[in-house]
Amino acid sequence: MPAPSPSRFEEVAPPASALVESLRDIGYSLATAISDIIDNSIAARATHVEWFASPYDDEPAIGLLDNGSGMSQDELREAMRLGSKHPDDIRDEHDLGRFGLGLKTASFSQCRNLTVLTRKAGHLSGARWDLDLIKETGEWTLEFLTDYSEVPWAENLNEDGTLVVWQTLDRLVEPDNKSDRSHLVEQLDEAATYVQLVFHRYLAGEAGIKKLQITFNNRRLEPFDPFHSKHPSTIIGPKELFRMANHKILIQPFTLPHHKKVTNDEWEIHAMREGYVKNQGFYIYRKYRLVIYGTWFSLARQAEMTKLSRICIDMPSELDSYWKIDIKKASAQLPEALKKHLKQLIEKIIVSSKRVYIGQGSREVTSEQLPVWLRIPGKDRITYCINQEHPIIDDFERSLSKDQSQVFCRLLRLIYSSFPVDALFADIATDPTLVNNENYDSNSLEELVRAAYNLLDKAGTKFDSVEKALLSSNPFKAYRELTQQVLNDIRKDQINGF
Ligand SMILES: Nc1ncnc2c1ncn2[C@@H]1O[C@H](COP(=O)(O)OP(=O)(O)OP(=O)(O)O)[C@@H](O)[C@H]1O
Ligand SMILES: [Mg+2]
Repeated sequence: MPAPSPSRFEEVAPPASALVESLRDIGYSLATAISDIIDNSIAARATHVEWFASPYDDEPAIGLLDNGSGMSQDELREAMRLGSKHPDDIRDEHDLGRFGLGLKTASFSQCRNLTVLTRKAGHLSGARWDLDLIKETGEWTLEFLTDYSEVPWAENLNEDGTLVVWQTLDRLVEPDNKSDRSHLVEQLDEAATYVQLVFHRYLAGEAGIKKLQITFNNRRLEPFDPFHSKHPSTIIGPKELFRMANHKILIQPFTLPHHKKVTNDEWEIHAMREGYVKNQGFYIYRKYRLVIYGTWFSLARQAEMTKLSRICIDMPSELDSYWKIDIKKASAQLPEALKKHLKQLIEKIIVSSKRVYIGQGSREVTSEQLPVWLRIPGKDRITYCINQEHPIIDDFERSLSKDQSQVFCRLLRLIYSSFPVDALFADIATDPTLVNNENYDSNSLEELVRAAYNLLDKAGTKFDSVEKALLSSNPFKAYRELTQQVLNDIRKDQINGF
């Protein structure tokens, strides 16, 4: 047999234009793309990022200027290269990068024209990727700028730092309908909200990281803490440490306050755009930067009862490969070693959040001394029914003949057995603040307080006990001041002998 001829090796490089056009579609949104650029500013030790946008200009543009270390011309050339660093490269402690791609992939996902101006030790350099030029030449032709005057916001780069500018925003402004900027404005708004969430720990500042200020068209972006951790009614669970491959993962559960404990505004803001149910779950931070949130990673269902649970997980970047962090730093997978541990944790949390959620209702009913409604937990179902021993209901029933009393009992049963549980549940889940019982005017309430008082008084109940019973029960509890006032009047009348 003739000896096989040796293999032949050839370089088969990807066609520049086809590759770069495909990379545009790896799934960035404007929000995740902007965040990737801010990651680079953090890695460059910036303390201030100025984010600019000119959505109504003839040629709208977006710019991000930081006061970080800046780059030399050589560093800029490397920074503009796709895959400028290897994922296995050891990075600085504060470097949020991993792939050597973010600057380019994030930018190309939103624009066809990426310009980077940077100043280091006073020396200014500028380079531009123009996707149309790459298409035309079929090569990775990078343009080095000599004139910066045409670059939007270049005049703001007065000290060391870097300015990233996106022009030809073909993904944000439809080429066929260039005058309609509503999509761009909406996306910018959404992106600002996202940045306030994703970088909230940098914006607020905490031990171990450099505080960062971000302004959007000169408006300062405030941190948005998804755990509402400063609110006194937020339940902060114990911090746990989990070791994986010699690295520490910190886990801390939070149960957000029930809607009755917060203002309507606070409730709305912490629901975030998709609502509490969708935003429950793990909040994974990589080097203090939120990477993924609002998922139980298939370990539990996103149920109504656990909608107030959010678990903060702090992981170091050394574990990136276990989490399978994606290029956009917007998704990750749960490492197997952590899975079992978190499953147990979730079970504990589900029990405690059910307590917070149901507790609100049941406590209210059971702590009432004169409940109109009774909540009766059975073995496998919970029943709500009207309390026929309530003095006012009982008194009315006693005034009826035997036949009428039977009809009355049937009527009560008809009412409580047909209570629209599903509709109420759906309404509360959508917006608990919308659900409100009928309001009493002061005259009707006074009549009701006096009637209840007279009945209890007739039954030999002492004034203090009547007062306690009424103030603990609805509807009087909901009109505490008015009820107290009527009771005070009754007492005064008694003292004065009326
Ligand atoms: N604002 C900046 N200031 C200073 N250097 C920067 C800045 N932006 C990018 N660089 C340099 O350019 C390099 C490439 O950035 P790029 O975002 O493409 O990749 P990365 O940050 O290394 O990794 P990743 O793909 O995970 O973002 C960075 O590693 C950094 O050295
Ligand atoms: Mg990066």
